[in-house]
Amino acid sequence: MARDQSIVFSFRYPCYILVALSAFSSLSFFYWSHSSVPCYSNGQTIEQIQNKNQPINLLSFPLAWNHLSFSSNPPSKILKIALFVKKWPHKSRAGGLERHAQTLHLALAKRGHELHIFTTSAQNKSFPTYPMSNLFFHLSKPTSAGLLDQSLVWKQFQTQNTTGKPFDMIHTESVGLMYTRAQNVSNLAVSWHGIAYEAVHTDIIQEILRAPDEHRAIELTDRTTRVVEEVKFFKNYAQHVATSDHVGDVLKRIYMIPEERVHTILNGVDEGIFRPDIAQGKDFKSKFGIPESKALVLGMAGRLVKDKGHPLMFEALKKMFAENSRFQESVFVLVAGNGPWGARYQDLGPNVLVLGPLDQAQLSRFYNAIDIFVNPTLRAQGLDHTLLEAILSGTPVIATRIASITGSVIVSHEMGYTFSPTVNSLKEALYRVWKDGRRVLQKKGQVGRERGLKLFTATKMAAAYERLFLCIADSVQGGNDYCTYKPSIG
Ligand SMILES: *[C@@H]1O[C@H](CO)[C@@H](O)[C@H](O)[C@H]1NC(C)=O
Ligand SMILES: *[C@@H]1O[C@H](CO)[C@@H](O)[C@H](O)[C@H]1NC(C)=O
Ligand SMILES: *[C@@H]1O[C@H](CO)[C@@H](O)[C@H](O)[C@H]1NC(C)=O
Repeated sequence: MARDQSIVFSFRYPCYILVALSAFSSLSFFYWSHSSVPCYSNGQTIEQIQNKNQPINLLSFPLAWNHLSFSSNPPSKILKIALFVKKWPHKSRAGGLERHAQTLHLALAKRGHELHIFTTSAQNKSFPTYPMSNLFFHLSKPTSAGLLDQSLVWKQFQTQNTTGKPFDMIHTESVGLMYTRAQNVSNLAVSWHGIAYEAVHTDIIQEILRAPDEHRAIELTDRTTRVVEEVKFFKNYAQHVATSDHVGDVLKRIYMIPEERVHTILNGVDEGIFRPDIAQGKDFKSKFGIPESKALVLGMAGRLVKDKGHPLMFEALKKMFAENSRFQESVFVLVAGNGPWGARYQDLGPNVLVLGPLDQAQLSRFYNAIDIFVNPTLRAQGLDHTLLEAILSGTPVIATRIASITGSVIVSHEMGYTFSPTVNSLKEALYRVWKDGRRVLQKKGQVGRERGLKLFTATKMAAAYERLFLCIADSVQGGNDYCTYKPSIG
């Protein structure tokens, strides 16, 4: 018992530590270890806040807005929204920032808002079209660094802002619109998908794993300088959205942005695509000839590159296959995606299958075919979408112990496993998954999905952003209708 306690407590650090310390009776310990209620460094949970039944001032709400319930009725006010994003995805396979931009803004357009998207034109690719008359793209040639040409997009924006109805709200995905233009614009919000402070952890991990003959990707001190630069320029953006609880905390505490200008809205993924479907999972397994006799199917997805932790996973599997023949015989590994580690995985033997990149529909079947989703990422920046997709599919997850994941996604052992980014820690965790077995995993998958449906759906994310935009637009125009949340009504 004593040992278990310390595991749970350290596992939930920093979010649970204060509550844990003030709740040292075994009874309250029981409560904390068996609830999926997130709590934050101020020790308040969503239940505690809502139970007071007092109206909540949304702009200073300390938790992720995903915990709140907003009405699904059509919005009472239609907003004209500008979005600045470096790149708009052409296929479902895109990086986190672009996926977020697409999922969110298509949802907002479907809600009836007028969306103007300022982004770069794609070289030699036709731009996707959408059957919506309230969605407008304003394309421009990227700079040589692949960024938005700031003076050009600002001109395009100004034309739209002066010839038509002025914009109610401006949203920039990261520095899509740089602070030099965003400065002094009050109806503006920036969403951060990876900040330098998070990258410090990535650098530490990379340095520890670096082979003696390998070059450092970045001098360790350079990153601290970068953090200082960010602290200095972030404050020029009026409103900030953190996509994980950890980043929300860092923006307030380290970047010193006043709390009423920092809002946490966790990423969401399409719950219509990513959902449990046992039959589809079975089909997928038989299509790829995965024997029913295999007791455990591990799955990975995404770019098969070093940053995503594939050298670590490769090494762990190689060692485990060599040292434990029962493990090797009973386990099957499915790898979706491509990259240099694909071929190496394939060399591990016949119980590893590399599928190449999958589209969203196939990916959904993939999540249903595996017993656990493994994400060994070494990148601490941003909040990974694949974990959320697996969770909504009812699949339990195992991932690296980085703050966005332990603080917002795998917040307890009830929904999955975490490990330190070392081969030994990963091996230990994988053996534990194997020993726990399918039944325990299915239970964790269910717990994860229940929590995921409350927090990680695209609908939840879009509703939270819509409310934030209504609130900011309204308060800039002197109103206050949308910035107050009434627990029972929304
Ligand atoms: C785009 O297409 C043109 C003509 O078809 C070709 O010359 C050019 O190299 C292509 N550019 C890229 C980046 O693929
Ligand atoms: C857009 O136009 C409105 C109305 O003229 C103006 O008040 C606002 O400052 C403009 N926004 C920006 C960012 O220039
Ligand atoms: C914002 O306001 C400050 C202070 O008035 C001014 O120095 C700065 O040039 C303004 N920035 C922009 C982009 O208008």
